[in-house]
Amino acid sequence: GVVQQTAPSAGVTPASTPAVSKEVTVLFGSQTGNSSGLSKKLAKKLEEQGLHVTLSAMGDFKPNGLKKIENLLIIVSTHGEGEPPDNAIPLHEFLHSKRAPKLDGLSYSVLALGDTSYEFFCKTGKDFDIRLQELGGTAIVPRVDCDVDFDEAAAEWMNDVLASLSSTPAAAGTVTSEAVVAAVSSDESEFNRTNPFKAEVLENLNLNGRGSDRETRHIELSLEGSNLDYEPGDSLGVFPENHPRLVDELITAMGWNADERVTVNKAGDQVSVREALLRYFEITAVTKPVVEQLAKLNPGSGLAALLADDSEFRTVMNSCDLLDLVHDYGLKGIPAASFVAVLRKIPARLYSIASSSKSFPDEVHLTVRTVRYESRGRERYGVCSVHLAERVESGDALPVFIQQNPNFKLPENPDTPIIMVGPGTGVAPFRSFIGEREETGAEGKTWLFYGDQHFSTDFLYQTEWQRWLKDGVLTKMDVAFSRDAEEKVYVQHRMLEHSKELYQWLQEGASVYICGDEKRMAHDVHAALATILEQEGGLTPEQAAEYLTRLQQEKRYQRDVY
Ligand code: 2AM
Repeated sequence: GVVQQTAPSAGVTPASTPAVSKEVTVLFGSQTGNSSGLSKKLAKKLEEQGLHVTLSAMGDFKPNGLKKIENLLIIVSTHGEGEPPDNAIPLHEFLHSKRAPKLDGLSYSVLALGDTSYEFFCKTGKDFDIRLQELGGTAIVPRVDCDVDFDEAAAEWMNDVLASLSSTPAAAGTVTSEAVVAAVSSDESEFNRTNPFKAEVLENLNLNGRGSDRETRHIELSLEGSNLDYEPGDSLGVFPENHPRLVDELITAMGWNADERVTVNKAGDQVSVREALLRYFEITAVTKPVVEQLAKLNPGSGLAALLADDSEFRTVMNSCDLLDLVHDYGLKGIPAASFVAVLRKIPARLYSIASSSKSFPDEVHLTVRTVRYESRGRERYGVCSVHLAERVESGDALPVFIQQNPNFKLPENPDTPIIMVGPGTGVAPFRSFIGEREETGAEGKTWLFYGDQHFSTDFLYQTEWQRWLKDGVLTKMDVAFSRDAEEKVYVQHRMLEHSKELYQWLQEGASVYICGDEKRMAHDVHAALATILEQEGGLTPEQAAEYLTRLQQEKRYQRDVY
């Protein structure tokens, strides 16, 4: 059942729809597709209530239109260190600028998506809420801030919004958290984030050569029988398991019996504490809500003092897991059942899909770099990447779901040239793009910029790129191997070397895609694009910035960065 309608009780005349239907605008700002999925669901429910709905990505919305809106609903996630997602930046900037109009007549509400393991939890949603209020808006219902497991909180917010906006609350439909999830993942399949598909592992190979600093797994999964489908640019959500060593050390440190049964969900299902910590709960991230509750469970520990010291807390949040907390803050005497009851559910990790479903029907491929490092005298593991590298092999089943990403899509026109910048694992979606263009016989020119440390060991999918280059599906390829020569050379250096031709492609209408490291690479590549526009197009820095903003608005500049 996707949507539960609450039938009017017998004997009560169902209220009729209002004579003049209310106008509601729903705007979403989204990096990974969560808020766009939620917004579609909300829009559908509002329309079923007889409201007149305008649904739009923030990036497609003209801020001048704000003054005319009576009812505004915003669903927006927060990215990186508290920044708005790309398609929310123009509206966010406009509202915080001097050009922002008075919004006295506006009724609004904000659903903020975020992650409590980040310092600036839900910051973008908070920004919008605060600013709309400053400009004179009135909240329809209070803002709701969601953690990574947002389904229930989002469903409650939607129900409150629906009840408030509908003048006939008795007839209001109810949104369930299952319905919310169904809207977020693909529509045709029964499988989604709360009901993941157990995909069989077909291949699990290391793409890096011997002697490399890197380990990058190429993983092929079967989607047979799932009815799941995806497009180039979409992501796969994977539910990992925690590292058994970390789980066992935590159990020992807390003095629990590994076989003790604990409850793992609202339905009351019970498994051993070891199983619960392996598969159900997050034990690597330290989040404020979890620490607050642990402090209550163990008032004698040092956690209360930690919570009182903001900067110390931030350091701990960025560098510690739960085992560190137990050791460093003297946590003890908390029964296993109470401990797990305050933990977050283990969140799925999203990976940009590396295959085209047209080249590999019923399969999905991933490119996953293994994250291992040492800190505070202990080896640390990227939860999902190390699980995939060390404990998943052919024949195993992996719980997965498709996460659509409307913000990273091939141009609709197959003749449009594309420029792809994807060093390291950032190359994954471009393997999907080129596979798709090959299968569909698209004729647009394609240009790949790739880089990593060493040519001989770190050139991911080298033979495939070379074949595509030979066949002409890939028109141009420029590579930057940063540690093969004395001087560091990165993808943006290659772009600058070809600035004339790159500018030419842009003038011809090319779309630009960047995937991979956000903080350094994507930032530097953006700067390189601006430089190219200044050098070759004679633009001022301001004009170059405007040009790039316009490209972004026209969806000709898209990023999938992490
Ligand atoms: P480095 O580690 O040798 O400095 C893929 O991870 C590649 O991205 C590596 O070759 C890495 O180089 C490179 N890289 C590091 N910082 C970068 C930046 N600011 N811009 C582009 N590439 C960068």
